[in-house]
Amino acid sequence: MQPDVIVTAPLPPFLYDPLKADYTCHDYHKAADKQGLLAADGAKIRGLVQGGGTVTPTTLLDALPRLEIISVFGVGYDGVPVAHCKQRGIKVTNTPDVLTDDVADVALGLILMTARGFVRANRFVHAGEWEKRSPELTTKLAGRKVGILGLGRIGKAIAQRVAAMGMKIAYTGRKPQDVPFDYLRDLNALASAVDFLVVACPGGPATRNIVNAEVLAALGKKGTLINIARGSIVDEPALVAALQAGTIKGAGLDVFADEPHIPAALMSMDNVVLLPHVGSATRETRQAMGDLCKANLDAWFAGRKTLTLIPELT
Ligand code: 8YV
Repeated sequence: MQPDVIVTAPLPPFLYDPLKADYTCHDYHKAADKQGLLAADGAKIRGLVQGGGTVTPTTLLDALPRLEIISVFGVGYDGVPVAHCKQRGIKVTNTPDVLTDDVADVALGLILMTARGFVRANRFVHAGEWEKRSPELTTKLAGRKVGILGLGRIGKAIAQRVAAMGMKIAYTGRKPQDVPFDYLRDLNALASAVDFLVVACPGGPATRNIVNAEVLAALGKKGTLINIARGSIVDEPALVAALQAGTIKGAGLDVFADEPHIPAALMSMDNVVLLPHVGSATRETRQAMGDLCKANLDAWFAGRKTLTLIPELT
């Protein structure tokens, strides 16, 4: 008997096909009648597969009384009600490490694109403008300071990359770490000390809107906001207002509060670089994430230890 698994997010075929080979999958994401699916099959379901950004309400979990494990296809599990899972003894796994380099690359790319104006420069050449005039001068990066909000695996990989470019590094987080970078306990103090504020901490209730109007004011006209983590961490209306008023220099964003919807005001801003949440979007990394996502389910249903249980449950 194959265990029944509910799928609550769109999955790539290189994960979904092998999943379907080993499990009885119920496609909640695609189901037209979601309540009907839960009423018919909810009581059989033992596993749930979701994406990093997928929100799993406790009401859904209430309809799955035999649920044993949530395997997240992503490193972020801010959409999972962890306390509820802990209380019910539901395991939660994610896909850390395998995507660290790619996400850090995107942060570096956004720093380069915003500071060196590569998006504008590319547009300039494509439009045949170079034949007519010289390109604009931009900003030197070596010697400038990057402030990292959340020095976890991805934050450290970003630090490594910007250090290689001769940039200085400061960070904030719950506690100082044994690293050769400046630690500032206060996020406002970090924002005022740096040229780039890079958001790299987990999403969820603890970090909701912590990059607020005050932090953006501290970042100021010299500063650019980079976000590769979660849109929920930044007060998006405050960010739009700061960019409109010119109180910060620019922004490089891979994540947004309500993906794939982006505030219309951001679309037309020349000092803003927008990416469609592509941090982990390489073939190699998505394959590795898919393999790990399934390996966690396989381990659990074979009676072995899961590979990457989230820290709150270890
Ligand atoms: C993915 C992510 O887009 O890992 C995460 O937390 O946000 C991204 O890597 C997402 O998880 C794919 O479902």
